[in-house]
Amino acid sequence: MESTRHLMCSPDHFTVAYVINPWMEGNVHDTVSCVAMQQWSALRTIVSQFTEVALLPPVPGLPDLVFTANAAVLRGRTAILSSFLHPERQAEEPRFRTWLAQDGFEVHQLPRTVPFEGAGDALFDRALPLLWFGHGVRSRSDAIPYLEQLLGTAVQPLELARSHFYHLDTCFCPLEGGFLLYYPAAFHTSSLQAIECIVPADRRLAVSSDDALDFACNAINIGQHLILNRASDDLQNWLDERGFSVHQTPTTEFLKAGGSAKCLSLSLNEN
Ligand code: ARG
Repeated sequence: MESTRHLMCSPDHFTVAYVINPWMEGNVHDTVSCVAMQQWSALRTIVSQFTEVALLPPVPGLPDLVFTANAAVLRGRTAILSSFLHPERQAEEPRFRTWLAQDGFEVHQLPRTVPFEGAGDALFDRALPLLWFGHGVRSRSDAIPYLEQLLGTAVQPLELARSHFYHLDTCFCPLEGGFLLYYPAAFHTSSLQAIECIVPADRRLAVSSDDALDFACNAINIGQHLILNRASDDLQNWLDERGFSVHQTPTTEFLKAGGSAKCLSLSLNEN
């Protein structure tokens, strides 16, 4: 067991109660609680093999609280709390703030007028001193100066182009060793050029739309382990060749809300 921790939240109150992304359309109250619980428990069991899992208490009426990736972006003991775009998720903020503060984080809040959705949109590169920041759907580029200043890091903005890939972690996954999975069609041209200029061609894989729609980029990477919903043979082979072990575990109930493995966890000491 490595000395890392991830935050998860049991799906006791998970459901699709409203529509704030295209995946949720047609799925309102269409999730099956026992299947969601079984899938989440299986995910937690796998994650627990590689890191300690801390638990945020579930809260009735906050169905998306399970997506702990959206709590905040963290660096050292500094946390920048999410400032959710949609009022439907804003009541989660005090829950995340209290948990993080009790865990010893110094929690910073952005103005309500600056939407920012935490580690859903802010992902540290694993090789470069760089924070990749997805904006244009949920988070807004006005958050960039706050991120730079409070985290003391360089920020590379990436403008998201498709509503199905509304958070950066749905289409972009920095991996140990500076490798990267990304779905090109999810990005505006200049952002795609930035990705392809910063990350050498032999370190990155442009995933297929089938893999992207299966949320393959929404992977939890702990050391050489990658935990995700589903990966094609091509994707598995690419990862295999680079020394990664792939653990597939279905998260189909959570896909109905627009989230998968990575959204369901927050790395507490990545940086
Ligand atoms: N229903 C949630 C929302 O639309 C899903 C969040 C998924 N989280 C993520 N980090 N991509 O906000």
